[in-house]
Amino acid sequence: MKTMKAIRFYSYDGPEVLRYEEIPMPSPEKGEVLIKVHAAGVNPVDWKIREGYLKDMLDHKLPLVPGWDVSGVIEAVGAGVERLKVKDEVYSRPDISRDGAYAEYIVVKESEVALKPRSVDHVHAAGIPLASLTAWQSLFCTANLSAGQRVLIHAAAGGVGTFAVQLAKWRRAYVIGTSSERNLDYVRSLGADEVIDYRRVPFEDAVQNVDVVFDTVGGDTQEHSWKVLKQGGILVSIVSPPAACVKGVRQAFVFVQPNSCQLRDIAGLVDSGKLKVYTEAVLPLSAARRAQELSKEGHMRGKIVLKVA
Ligand SMILES: NC(=O)c1ccc[n+]([C@@H]2O[C@H](COP(=O)([O-])OP(=O)(O)OC[C@H]3O[C@@H](n4cnc5c(N)ncnc54)[C@H](OP(=O)(O)O)[C@@H]3O)[C@@H](O)[C@H]2O)c1
Repeated sequence: MKTMKAIRFYSYDGPEVLRYEEIPMPSPEKGEVLIKVHAAGVNPVDWKIREGYLKDMLDHKLPLVPGWDVSGVIEAVGAGVERLKVKDEVYSRPDISRDGAYAEYIVVKESEVALKPRSVDHVHAAGIPLASLTAWQSLFCTANLSAGQRVLIHAAAGGVGTFAVQLAKWRRAYVIGTSSERNLDYVRSLGADEVIDYRRVPFEDAVQNVDVVFDTVGGDTQEHSWKVLKQGGILVSIVSPPAACVKGVRQAFVFVQPNSCQLRDIAGLVDSGKLKVYTEAVLPLSAARRAQELSKEGHMRGKIVLKVA
């Protein structure tokens, strides 16, 4: 039996449950491709799943390989795969209910995979799928953000926020971001029209009449966000289903879904220079524990990526 190196956990708990070990290599079935992983993006959902926050929703069988962001090269294809072929350089946000990408190989459904942007290497490409799809599906598919609208993007320096600011500017919206002082210039460099230092001033005192609030923080941030929305506006959260019911404004919760067509369009934006990915930390696969600790601290700029090959 062929084996590969991977990170797995056998119980829901702290980062110490992550084990670097040799496990059987998966093989693709009908409609699936086997990807040789070059890099795996790290996202907050990785530590949230490891700590058991999503166990009722996802019903995973343990042990589980975490990590649902990948860039790599197709090594083999299953029956019925027509769009992709061996040696294609691809990226994906795979199905979160299955084994992830903290491994030398991963099996992914063809419908979740797109050709990676040619202009960036695998390490940068691995930081793109989950966060950019989340921003795309929230701003475009749910909020229907349009040119000239005012959008408030919380945690604009984070993994999702970095893409949200750039995508909203590409749509020609007026973008207001929040970040700490360390990231003010970074968020401006992404194209934001205004940046609020959320530690210095309550953002709800600094901004009003917003068409769309993109809530990537939850808690008090979500609660105070209702005040800045104009009548007919919408609050889209990716952290917790909006709790309040406020007259005259709409609300939605988005849980990102795999989507190869959107990934193809996103790759086009990257290759035409309209969308950039920023990677603050690149660690080896064996340092997955440290990567998840950094993610949980919640103050990284852009992405954390594990370099696998
Ligand atoms: N529902 C979904 O499908 C979905 C998809 C992706 C992510 N998410 C969730 O969305 C959240 C964000 O994800 P992410 O990948 O962007 O996380 P991330 O990259 O870890 O976010 C880190 C950023 O958050 C900023 N930040 C922390 N507290 C803040 C606050 N109170 N106000 C403004 N900015 C703040 C930090 O900036 P400073 O250092 O400047 O404070 C840092 O740059 C996570 O909870 C994640 O689980 C959900």
